[in-house]
Amino acid sequence: MNTQQIELVQASFEKVRPIADQAAESFYQRLFEIAPHYRSLFKHDMKKQGAMLMSTLGLAVGSLKNLEKILPAVQALGRRHAEYGVTAEDYQPVAEAFLWTLEHYLGEAFTPDLKEAWVAAYTTLAGAMIESAETEAILI
Ligand code: HEM
Repeated sequence: MNTQQIELVQASFEKVRPIADQAAESFYQRLFEIAPHYRSLFKHDMKKQGAMLMSTLGLAVGSLKNLEKILPAVQALGRRHAEYGVTAEDYQPVAEAFLWTLEHYLGEAFTPDLKEAWVAAYTTLAGAMIESAETEAILI
């Protein structure tokens, strides 16, 4: 990601932050529309789940300029996801639902450049999560 993309992502996340609860709810609704079978993976309160998702995303987005600082936390998150039963293929529908949510709330502000920047951010984050989960599998 280049600096401009990072700044685009950070500025747009600030617009979503005040409506994070609503955005998280819409995200899961959309995800379960696209992929109804994911519903059974989630065992806990979805409001809390949404809050954890948005706060983690907030931390990651805020650290895009120095990702190495949060890399261990992202890797641990990736390993926990493998334990929840999440596989590398599952990151694609989640990306779709997430991009849909951004478009839904940002409207015209969700320009093709901003979309590209978010795809790059998600790919970076998901890539680190997937890689750490795969490394764990090899170690076992
Ligand atoms: C960038 C991508 C993602 C982020 C930032 C993220 C973030 C989170 C966070 C913060 C939690 C709370 C528990 C914890 O910290 O371990 C969580 C739990 C969970 N996530 Fe994700 N997640 C991502 C991708 C995915 C994907 C692709 C799936 C696949 C469907 C998924 C499914 C789950 C499930 C099943 C749980 C546990 C729910 C439960 O125990 O009730 N996540 N996620």
